[in-house]
Amino acid sequence: MVFKRQVAKLIGIVATSVAVVYLQKKVTTAPHSFTQLSVYKIIDMKMENSLQVSLILHIIGLSTVFGVTLVRYILSRKFWVQYKKDKEKGLTILQASSKLPLIAGIGLVLLILSGFMMMAITAGVFGHQLWFRIKMIVVILIIAVSVFLSKGLENRLRKWVTEDMIEGSSTHPIGNLIGRINTVQLFLSSLFILIFILSVFKFN
Ligand code: HEM
Repeated sequence: MVFKRQVAKLIGIVATSVAVVYLQKKVTTAPHSFTQLSVYKIIDMKMENSLQVSLILHIIGLSTVFGVTLVRYILSRKFWVQYKKDKEKGLTILQASSKLPLIAGIGLVLLILSGFMMMAITAGVFGHQLWFRIKMIVVILIIAVSVFLSKGLENRLRKWVTEDMIEGSSTHPIGNLIGRINTVQLFLSSLFILIFILSVFKFN
């Protein structure tokens, strides 16, 4: 009786082991087995979700930076019109726009981070394409112009306006400076439009 029970147990263990080995083999050798396809599907879905989230962040970043660049251009023109008539009114516009460079900076950081996230998710596949390489050169140009040119000119404008207000006279060529600031903002806007065109046509 005990012997019979032990044989039955042994047969059970062997049968289970054979079944496990058979199933394992089936999963690893049949590339289109249901189990494997489900795993691929889950990984694909997770990658797609991360890519979509990154793209949403990318679009939020680029609309912020591009929008702020246009607003800075409009406000700087408005400032000069008002400043010539009434310095106090001009100063109000300048103060109201003081946070715009910070918002543009945050947008640019978001744009770059989400761009690198998409590159990581797609294993850098875009890096080999011509449109993307040109885009990266334009991105570097945008960063260089924003950091080294735009920031300096706007700081100088604030300094000159403050000095003019204290002295009560116009000793600095603010009109020329505004002209240069507007040219820089228009140049930045055209670089953004160039990136939009590159991203749409994606030529190789
Ligand atoms: C001024 C900076 C940038 C602007 C204006 C910009 C703009 C754009 C635009 C308009 C798209 C197309 C969105 C779409 O297909 O719906 C895009 C996609 C993309 N961008 Fe950027 N981008 C910038 C910076 C970057 C950076 C720094 C990287 C990476 C290092 C990057 C990587 C990507 C990638 C991987 C895509 C996805 C392309 C695709 O799915 O076909 N971007 N970007």
